[in-house]
Amino acid sequence: MSAKVIAIANQKGGEGKTTTALNLSHGLAIEGFQTLLVDIDPQANSSSIFVDPDKLTLSAADIFLSKKDVQDIIQKTQYERLYILPAKINLAEVELSSLNVEAPYILRDALSKVKETYDMIVIDCPPSLSIFTVNALVAADYVIIPLQAEKFSIDGIRGLQNTIESIKRRINPSLRILGALVTQLKSNTVLTKTIMPVIQNYFPVFETSISTGVAVGESHLSRKTLLDYNPSIKQAKEYFSFVKEVVRGIQN
Ligand SMILES: Nc1ncnc2c1ncn2[C@@H]1O[C@H](COP(=O)(O)OP(=O)(O)O)[C@@H](O)[C@H]1O
Ligand SMILES: [Mg+2]
Repeated sequence: MSAKVIAIANQKGGEGKTTTALNLSHGLAIEGFQTLLVDIDPQANSSSIFVDPDKLTLSAADIFLSKKDVQDIIQKTQYERLYILPAKINLAEVELSSLNVEAPYILRDALSKVKETYDMIVIDCPPSLSIFTVNALVAADYVIIPLQAEKFSIDGIRGLQNTIESIKRRINPSLRILGALVTQLKSNTVLTKTIMPVIQNYFPVFETSISTGVAVGESHLSRKTLLDYNPSIKQAKEYFSFVKEVVRGIQN
């Protein structure tokens, strides 16, 4: 069976993309899927949980620059069935000419070589609608949008929807929006109640949302996924039920 590719995208930073990519990919591995996490953010946040990005000889940039074989870049992680295609800061220096008609397809072509090796491929996107995010959306079967129930998080939602729709229309008609995942939820405040319907106007919203908790930051500091750091904590349980929703969504 060919891998399902899931992009975790939102052009705003701090919305929970990396936390979601880490715990979704680890959760899928726990569920028994051979899983590859692909980091295409020059900040290399998700890579840094598994490797020292400064010490990498090969990284995501080599896919875009020299078209290196992905198999040579992928590394094992400390978790069973979970692999990482890491990024480092030099990804920020990659400039893809907009005149290069191949530019949006580089990641898709590269991943096509490992689609039979993995069941699931999760892509952690940078906080921009750059050519990297476009590459992820072109390579993906599904997109998940983590976002907070905050005004500033809603402000960019139409731009994101337009980008997804235009990629769908022009390049990747099979791209499906799996849903928006509300992260860092404080409580069912008035704010949340007002903003939820606004989000639902644009995207389907996952039943599960992820509440705010200090363990999330602690897990990053200890270079573990939250599911490993403390599987019994509230936010880890929420991520587990989100993973189950994703699996159900993909099988439908
Ligand atoms: N559920 C949560 N509870 C508390 N802090 C969180 C939660 N999710 C993310 N964070 C914190 O918010 C910040 C941004 O999250 P991150 O996943 O890096 O977002 P992005 O990749 O979209 O920039 C990080 O410092 C992270 O530790
Ligand atoms: Mg990030």
